[in-house]
Amino acid sequence: MDVIRQKVRVDFEYPVFFTRGVLTPSNLLLRDVVARSADQTPSDLVVVVDRGVVDHQPQLAEHIAEYAQRHRTVLHLAAPVLVVPGGEAVKNDPRYVDQIHHAINDARLCRHSYVVAIGGGAVLDAAGYAAATAHRGIRLIRVPTTVLAQDDSAMGVKNGINAFGKKNYLGTFAPPFAVINDTSFLETLPDRHWRAGVSEAIKAALIKDRSFFDYLEEHAAALRTRDLGVMEQVIRRCAALHLNHIASGGDPFELGSSRPLDFGHWSAHKLEQLTDHRLGHGEAVAIGIALDTTYSYLAGFLPEDDWRRIISLLPALGLSVYVPELGEHLEGGADASSGQPTVLDGLDEFREHLGGALTILMLRSIGAPFDVHDIRRDVMIRSIGVLHDFEHAHQLREERHERHILPEPSEPQGTGR
Ligand SMILES: NC(=O)c1ccc[n+]([C@@H]2O[C@H](COP(=O)([O-])OP(=O)(O)OC[C@H]3O[C@@H](n4cnc5c(N)ncnc54)[C@H](O)[C@@H]3O)[C@@H](O)[C@H]2O)c1
Ligand SMILES: [Zn+2]
Repeated sequence: MDVIRQKVRVDFEYPVFFTRGVLTPSNLLLRDVVARSADQTPSDLVVVVDRGVVDHQPQLAEHIAEYAQRHRTVLHLAAPVLVVPGGEAVKNDPRYVDQIHHAINDARLCRHSYVVAIGGGAVLDAAGYAAATAHRGIRLIRVPTTVLAQDDSAMGVKNGINAFGKKNYLGTFAPPFAVINDTSFLETLPDRHWRAGVSEAIKAALIKDRSFFDYLEEHAAALRTRDLGVMEQVIRRCAALHLNHIASGGDPFELGSSRPLDFGHWSAHKLEQLTDHRLGHGEAVAIGIALDTTYSYLAGFLPEDDWRRIISLLPALGLSVYVPELGEHLEGGADASSGQPTVLDGLDEFREHLGGALTILMLRSIGAPFDVHDIRRDVMIRSIGVLHDFEHAHQLREERHERHILPEPSEPQGTGR
């Protein structure tokens, strides 16, 4: 036998900036990010933008053109700004990645040029995949515009689109060139997406940082009323936890069987699919967190007090802990005959996506997770039942509260004695 053992080490480094008004011409951040390693000036840029952002800022393409024009010694807009649909639509139809590839090719970008992607996690995933595969990798600058993308998805090294009915089936591990978190984009974010992104912060707190969980509890009301300053703190802290994990977790490209950042995600991915993406990723993660937290409690790992705190924080932040699909036995589903909720298929699919033995994170306490390789289905089914009852009771309380705060019809005037 003859063998040459090859070993290659590659270091990646990417800055994550926090700013407001990134496209204001006097904000030099984007210019400087490119100028920092400009080996050709000006550098070519293809800019891909989320339609959801453009709908709220119709002048965005003009602002981008003006910014590039003002800093033309550094930046050259090599193609018209490309607007693509936001949300899963951009990941479900491969034509959009194709469109981005065409734009990159038409603009004759090289590996030292830039794709700048401005949008939610879905647009960043699709544009990132296109950038990573054109010329085997063009520099990607991510400008995330949702809470979830700013505190979670844009921090990582993954991109991808959906295929064969499976989330993120096609994709690559490719660290970005830089990330620019501009919180002013969040001002136009619909309430629903504002709330959804907080679930990744709860997740990060639960698996990494108990004091961050305390902070989220203390600031739940401010988050619900859209306090941008508090949200900036939450994003900054969550992003830092995420980045630190990728840098020090020892498995940035997820070669092992464990995915410590994916607490609550096995069921979340399945619920996104079962609801046909009616649930967004963050909303599904909130339910996934509730489910694995309840399992941790019922299986005897997690103290009741911690369980109560977690399960109460989610609705306090406007996040539901149950949808009908969680308890559903779909007809024709793999488990229809056994009477098990279809969501449990998510366990096998999660294992299959990762490879190796099933590894699910559970909680011993807030901030202290551990790996479990065997999930008791009866306990999981009981957990689903508990969430069903909890959500039902919560809805009743909300309804009563609403009825209570409605002004009482006043007594007809002049009839009293
Ligand atoms: N790559 C990763 O590591 C990773 C991690 C987590 C999630 N994700 C992916 O991210 C996606 C979810 O991302 P998301 O939660 O950011 O939602 P999203 O990208 O689906 O966007 C939600 C909606 O908000 C709109 N929008 C975006 N920014 C806006 C703004 N500033 N103002 C108004 N509307 C705006 C979009 O057009 C869309 O309709 C999923 O596809 C998920 O799989 C990827
Ligand atoms: Zn997630």
